[in-house]
Amino acid sequence: MKFDVMVLPGDGIGPEVVEQGVKLLEAISKKSGHVFNFEQDIIGGAAIDSYGVALKPETAEKSSKADAILFGAVGGPKWDDPTAKVRPEDGLLAIRKALGVYANIRPVKSYSFLKDSIPLKSELVDDIDLIMIRELTGGLYFGKPKKQWTNSRGRVAVDTLKYTEKEITRILRVGFELARGRSKKLTSVDKANVLESSRLWRQIAIELSAEYPDVKLEHQLVDSCTMQLIQNPRQFDVMVMENTFGDILSDEGSVLAGSLGMLPSASLSGIPSADGSIKAKGLYEPIHGTAPDIAGQGKANPIATILSVALLLRYSLGLPEEAKKIEDAVDTVIAQGYRTADIGKKEEQIVTTEELANKIIDLVTSY
Ligand code: IPM
Ligand code: MN
Repeated sequence: MKFDVMVLPGDGIGPEVVEQGVKLLEAISKKSGHVFNFEQDIIGGAAIDSYGVALKPETAEKSSKADAILFGAVGGPKWDDPTAKVRPEDGLLAIRKALGVYANIRPVKSYSFLKDSIPLKSELVDDIDLIMIRELTGGLYFGKPKKQWTNSRGRVAVDTLKYTEKEITRILRVGFELARGRSKKLTSVDKANVLESSRLWRQIAIELSAEYPDVKLEHQLVDSCTMQLIQNPRQFDVMVMENTFGDILSDEGSVLAGSLGMLPSASLSGIPSADGSIKAKGLYEPIHGTAPDIAGQGKANPIATILSVALLLRYSLGLPEEAKKIEDAVDTVIAQGYRTADIGKKEEQIVTTEELANKIIDLVTSY
């Protein structure tokens, strides 16, 4: 099969980890005969420097024609001025919106070898394996009005938290479908005691649950959920929430995993099936940011990107076997003791971004 893959490395460590992801796909292509046509472009700070915009319309256009997008990270101190007219993050938000990737899937898995890196009692975080589903193209991030102005009493700013029934229904459906394929428990996170948008969210969740009698639906208020996630994370399996809550809770969730460098994500425009029979266009990115402090030093952990490539193969290209090979190879290489600096305790285990990626790639192509 032939696939078009758009590659958007971004800023900071984005290019060095994405390079490893592309190498992995090239190796899989040689082995499997599938053809990946890559097109690469700049986004974020790099695009601001070259073109004065964080995302060129042509880049968005080409991305929307591709089968999948592999994304690195955007941003950095150089573009951090809060009064700046354009920010690198605008590029990421614009491409999410342009592609309509409303469902952000953030799996959180704990690795026993990272236990020492987790600031929680180890019995609390043993065998964490949960999925956060974050609505990605609505809510406060995109609602209008969204502006700052000055009136006679001083400066004023507004952001708008708005959701339509259609937006809420489709993201909750992703939650129910994923829960159905796992432990059949869905936690819907909201702030229905205060927010109108959350009250609509909860009503729709209850209505939709009639279609999924096999899934146990529970509701948690977001403030108490932040506590529960630390106190008793193993109660969760599939969680679904609106955009801003998901932004915050997923960073909290990443602490349970031990390192941001291990966590992939998928942003999807529909509901794919785990067996690869139904595909969805998607944007795949590591959860971590641009880590400007280590950029260009070969220290970045490529695993989050490599696992994002696995998700890309599974959900957008319909190649679940190749995806599984990657996930198994990551587990094996980790078990063999290879580490980048973020997850390595002993000096003798530490390898570079490229060395760790090559170990994984060699294994994937040897199966
Ligand atoms: C994330 C990031 C982005 C977000 C930023 C970079 C715009 O924090 O993917 O979680 O807030 O969605
Ligand atoms: Mn975030």
